[in-house]
Amino acid sequence: MSEEQKVERKLFDEVMVPCYAPMQMIPDRGKGARIWDQEDREYIDFAGGIAVSCLGHCHPVMVDALKNQAEKLWHLSNVMTNAPALRLAKKLTEVSFAEKVFFANSGAEANEAALKLARRWAVDVHGPEKSEIIAFTQGFHGRTFFTVTVGGQAAYSDGFGPKPGDVTHLPYNDIDALKARCLTAPVR
Ligand SMILES: Cc1ncc(COP(=O)(O)O)c(C=O)c1O
Repeated sequence: MSEEQKVERKLFDEVMVPCYAPMQMIPDRGKGARIWDQEDREYIDFAGGIAVSCLGHCHPVMVDALKNQAEKLWHLSNVMTNAPALRLAKKLTEVSFAEKVFFANSGAEANEAALKLARRWAVDVHGPEKSEIIAFTQGFHGRTFFTVTVGGQAAYSDGFGPKPGDVTHLPYNDIDALKARCLTAPVR
């Protein structure tokens, strides 16, 4: 990496909103499970996509697929669908329990959708009063207002005015509290 291309970690503190606290080391390239920083120091990347997209770095099959698609069709809005998305959705329905697929851009959106789906199902099937979400404290499910609210950490969810309602928090990992809450929850 040339000296002109390098950036210093302090630039993050200068120009980025501080909702994350990344490591001092700045990765420059990767291969498989390894990454190299700007000084060419080698690391094993145990973080991956925080256990979500742990596909390793620069696998040739993935690089080819990305390059081919990038040279063919770039971003589309939701007013059009496309063959790769539909083929992937079909595959997912074939190998999982699901009949339908919702593609999201982030974990927060996926979890937000899951929470909305759970509520919509309960409201449609049992009635409008069935909106309670039972969650644990010390969670993290994403940075949307609903997901930080369900996450139950004041540092992420407080200070933005009224939160989405009807979310009950129990102590983290307290299964007895969960059982008690489910057994004593008022029948609505
Ligand atoms: C456990 C967990 N859930 C959800 C999320 C949110 O995912 P994203 O950052 O893709 O919105 C994260 C992100 O760090 C996470 O660690």
